[in-house]
Formats: sequence, structure tokens, C-alpha cells
Amino acid sequence: MEERIVDENLQPDDVFEKNIRPQSLDEYVGQKEIKENIRIFIKAALIRSEPLDHVLLYGPPGLGKTTLAHIIANELGSNIKTASGPSLEKTGDLAAVLSTLEPGDVLFIDEIHRMPKFIEEVLYPAMEDFEIDLVIGSEGKSRNIRIDLPPFTLVGATTRAGDISAPLRDRFGIIAKLEYYKEEELKDIVKRTSRVLEMPIEDQAAQELAKRCRKTPRIANRLFKRVRDFALVEGDSTITEEMTKNALARLKVDEYGLDNLDIEYLKSLITKFNGGPVGVETIATSIGEEPSTIEDVIEPFLLQEGFIKRTPRGRMATTKAYSHLKISHNETLF
Ligand SMILES: Nc1ncnc2c1ncn2[C@@H]1O[C@H](COP(=O)(O)OP(=O)(O)OP(=O)(O)O)[C@@H](O)[C@H]1O
Ligand SMILES: [Mg+2]
Repeated sequence: MEERIVDENLQPDDVFEKNIRPQSLDEYVGQKEIKENIRIFIKAALIRSEPLDHVLLYGPPGLGKTTLAHIIANELGSNIKTASGPSLEKTGDLAAVLSTLEPGDVLFIDEIHRMPKFIEEVLYPAMEDFEIDLVIGSEGKSRNIRIDLPPFTLVGATTRAGDISAPLRDRFGIIAKLEYYKEEELKDIVKRTSRVLEMPIEDQAAQELAKRCRKTPRIANRLFKRVRDFALVEGDSTITEEMTKNALARLKVDEYGLDNLDIEYLKSLITKFNGGPVGVETIATSIGEEPSTIEDVIEPFLLQEGFIKRTPRGRMATTKAYSHLKISHNETLF
């Protein structure tokens, strides 16, 4: 599969994300409830001079989990040390990061659902009592040692909350689910990015990007960056609505944020299979993609936006899909 501009996962081109990341809760747009709760918990922790309770952040890619983890550390006035689930292969890997912690630090573990089970078990006492038990030495001469850790806050992030074991989940005092963003919030995010990158954007243009970014800040920022390229080449100092619409048309991102792949899928479902129901395998073959691509990459957004539905007999196109493609229900080809 080709790289998609509407992919919500991090792409190599997103390196600029760092500069445009909000640094404080005040700058972090939306997620009101989470933000207000976390603000209070942080205040309380600071008053008590205790570490903040461990925080688990979950939700779809690109909604701001990593960003929020950094903000939590900033607001606590502490350092953040990072690791990711798959990078923790041996007990020693975890012990190594834990040993760098200073009192009150944040340990951020991204993709925490991909941490091996035996590492998870070493993490339990670290989370509960700030200590770990390690076995050192080689076979025959090994012994157990206990290492005391400074009080710290673990912030875990995952896109798959369901893959986190109950004992691990239970050790987090604060569990927050990030939600898709509203259009107004995305517009604010685009405007903020425009200020940070010093490229002015018209209100209507920001609105347009907000509409087409699949409710995801990462995609909003990526679209902004591409439209900015068009503006730069065409020598304009402000991003206008017209320019935005032209650029998005050239990038093949439509009014709903659907790209070629989505449209190809819907067209195939409607014209070749009479709107379904049809199985994933069949539709995958018809558009030359892997079934896993269909299920993990194409369908989630189409389902969420109500372009398709899942039935026991397979996928079906909804009225919304027909009208979006301007095909009437009885006019289909086969
Ligand atoms: N609430 C927000 N306000 C402003 N910008 C945001 C917000 N949330 C996310 N962003 C922007 O979107 C980008 C992607 O966010 P981030 O990397 O935190 O997502 P994530 O949830 O960690 O994604 P992944 O699951 O892929 O790790 C950030 O660089 C940031 O610029
Ligand atoms: Mg992240």
C-alpha cells in the first residue's frame, strides 16, 4: 500500500511535529474533561509533594497521547524519560531506564500493550512500592537483589486498551480515553500551527482543513503543512480558502477527508457488489489490497463515519456512501 496523506499513524515526514506540539495544558486544545481532571490531580500532587498517580492514556493514533505525556511532565516541573513497550526486551532494559529516574520524574512508556508479560511483572512492584526485584549473576550463582527506586509517575500510552492486562490496568490511578476532536477544536489547532510556523491562514481555510482531517490533529497538521507548500511555491503569503481547496483536490482528499483508497473501496462495494453484503476477502481481492489493510486501515474510519456497516453476512454500503459517490440505489451496475 502507498503512503496515505490521511494516515493517522506517525510518518517519517511528521518530524516537524516536535515544534508544533503544545507544551502546557493551556495550549493543549480540546479533551476538556481529561485536561481539567489532570490539572487538579497535578495540583494536588504538588501540594502534597507526592508523585502524581500513574496515568494510562488510550485512544486512536494521532489524538495527542505522547503530547499529553510531555505536558504532564512539564506541568509537574519534572523530567520525562521515555521507553516503548517493544523496546523493553529484557528485564535489564527496564532496570536501565528505571535507574535513570530522579524523584518525581515521569516515565513514559509508549505502546505499553506491547510490553512482554515478564517485564510487566517486574513493573508491578515498581509501580506499587517503587522497588524492583532483580535476579543477577549466572545460573548456579544467581541471587535476588532488591533495588529501591525514587517515587515517580508512570505514564503509559496505547491505541489498544483492550490488549492491556487487568493487573496492569488496575495499577493506574488515572485512566483517560482520548476522544476524536470537534471541528472547532481542529480549527484552533490549525490556527495554532499556523502561528507557530509563521504562515498565516484565512479563517475559512482553517475551517476547511478542520473538516477534512478525519477528526485527528496529526492529520490536520499534516494537511496544513502540505497546503503551506503550495502557498510557498505559488508565492502567496497567506493560505486562502481557494488555495486550500485546490491543494486538497490535488492531494485527493475530499470533503469528508476520504482519499483515493477509501473511494476505491466504496466504489467497488457499490458497483461490483451491489452495495454488499460482501466479505472482506472478496472486496480485498477486488481492489488489490490485503484483507488486513482493509480491516485495519480503510474500514475503521468508514465505519465510524457511517459510510459502511458490518453485518454478519459482510460489509454493506450505507445510504450516506451512495449519496457521497452520487450513485442512486437502483442505478448500480450489476
Ligand atoms: N490537543 C492538542 N492540541 C494541539 N495539538 C495537538 C493536540 N493533540 C495532538 N496535537 C498535535 O498532533 C500531533 C500528534 O499528536 P501525538 O503524537 O501526541 O499523538 P499520539 O496520540 O501520541 O499518536 P500515536 O498513537 O501515533 O503515538 C502532535 O504533534 C501535536 O502537534
Ligand atoms: Mg504517540
